[in-house]
Amino acid sequence: MNARFVRVAVAAIAMLSTNASSSFAQASGEHSSDHWYDHAVIYEIYPRSFQDTNGDGIGDLKGITQRLDYLQELGVDAIWITPFFPSPNADFGYDVSDYTGVAAEYGTMADWDELVRGSRKRSIRVLVDFVVNHSSDQHPWFKESRSSRDNPKRDWYVWRDGGPNGQPPTHWTSIFGGYTWTLDPRTNQWYYHVFLPQQPDLNWANPGLRKAMFDAARFWLDHGASGFRLDATPYLFEDPAFPDDPHPPAPGGPAALMPYNSGRPENHGVLRELRSILDSYPEDRVLLGESSTPTIEDLAAVYGKNHDEIQLPMDFLFGNLNKLNAAEFKKQVDDAQLRLGGQTPVFFFSSHDHPRQWSVFGDGKNNDQIAKLTAALTLTLRGTALMYYGEELGMGTMSKAELAAIPIGPKRPRADDRDGERTPMQWTSGPTAAFTTGAPWLPVEPAARTYNVASEKQDPDSIYSWYAALLKLRQTPTFRSGGYVPLDSGNAHAFAFGRRLGDGRGALIVLNMSAKPQRVTITGAPGQWASFGKVLLSSPNAAAPTANTFTIAPYGVVIASEL
Ligand code: GLC
Ligand code: CA
Repeated sequence: MNARFVRVAVAAIAMLSTNASSSFAQASGEHSSDHWYDHAVIYEIYPRSFQDTNGDGIGDLKGITQRLDYLQELGVDAIWITPFFPSPNADFGYDVSDYTGVAAEYGTMADWDELVRGSRKRSIRVLVDFVVNHSSDQHPWFKESRSSRDNPKRDWYVWRDGGPNGQPPTHWTSIFGGYTWTLDPRTNQWYYHVFLPQQPDLNWANPGLRKAMFDAARFWLDHGASGFRLDATPYLFEDPAFPDDPHPPAPGGPAALMPYNSGRPENHGVLRELRSILDSYPEDRVLLGESSTPTIEDLAAVYGKNHDEIQLPMDFLFGNLNKLNAAEFKKQVDDAQLRLGGQTPVFFFSSHDHPRQWSVFGDGKNNDQIAKLTAALTLTLRGTALMYYGEELGMGTMSKAELAAIPIGPKRPRADDRDGERTPMQWTSGPTAAFTTGAPWLPVEPAARTYNVASEKQDPDSIYSWYAALLKLRQTPTFRSGGYVPLDSGNAHAFAFGRRLGDGRGALIVLNMSAKPQRVTITGAPGQWASFGKVLLSSPNAAAPTANTFTIAPYGVVIASEL
């Protein structure tokens, strides 16, 4: 696993929870329909790598609690914690063997409760990663299911007879390579897995399974979760006829998304039902979807016909862009803003599955400035922005060569191509960056000596300081509630757009996506976008443009208001 993945997966406190609406007041905004999540910054935490508290070199829930002050000061609205449930770690937690527990390496339910309490105190919401498509092959449900053809849980997973001559039921390829089928000799049938063989797909057509999964959802909602990040939502159903793929890629070759096993119409029913469960709870709970789609129309459909499914589907059409190209960004952003039926777009670049943006967009010379540029893009747009831990420091992706040199051992039972973007959070310039007092499960980036919280907080020009300023700016009315205004920069290297409130107040954002100074002429309705009295934020420092024609520095960012 899997360079392929990133391209393709373009797939109390029960007591606390119910009455505590006071801690999360409905956000005030321009519109009465304004939900907190429509303009939130959601910070993704890979718990294994954020903060260790017991010296075993593996981050834990207590570590997150310990760092809540940091997150509050930075200004995030919510955290999404990737799976911390019991798991054999074939896919580092994305193979769940108990949906309602905490893995010993990450702590206990009491630690979870403490984390929720601490987060609420700071008005930070916590989203749980709900791995809805598959469980671990070590989950008791699967152990039962595989035990015999007539086991009551047989149908909780997807079992089929093989094709002729020992062939799998279909020649569908898995996102992680090989066929989507594994033969289980005990019952001489094949089970279906769109990811690893250790991740058998759950059969959502089975009412018993459905109820068990919805009960698991209720469990976390009852324990103070503000919602879920839903893993791999396009794959919940397969075509019940299981037609063969007419053009199967060679096994081990690039995986293909097929009409037979992604984006099936049956998905909507499950997501609507899950949403109605969330809506039966107070406090505006939310579904954030890993909803990769091939087109913007498909993405629009993920919100549901009546906007009653996933409130926040991640926009992978934007998130998978990996070159600074103003025209391409303008197209994807205009699509997200104007072609999703007014629904809230979700922007991100980095994640535990995506190489880090500092490395992806960096040109080797101007990486820090480029990191500021990509931050300005995701954080000034109308919509919700995701941040991946350490993005605010300019953490980079560890190189393949460095990764290859890291030994496999009990703390890192297997190598994963994505380990490069999962290195420990960089708190200080010390040897383990204050991530752990022991030996970290993955090495700390050498760059941590300069790219770390302690140093960057002291430096007003650091990437951290830039992010903190952007997050503050997002709280102002224009950036919190203003609509998106498509603009023309008059220059192929510069991307410009506006934000405007109903009362006319507005702001202009211009991003130079090239290594040379660029002259721009901003035009676009409504208004003339001609006089910008005040720079709200810029990097490098720029004077206020006094007309709609001005020059912007290499990889420069200018955010200006008209008034
Ligand atoms: C999602 C997760 C990814 C995981 C896969 C299988 O795409 O983000 O990390 O490997 O699902 O669960
Ligand atoms: Ca630990």
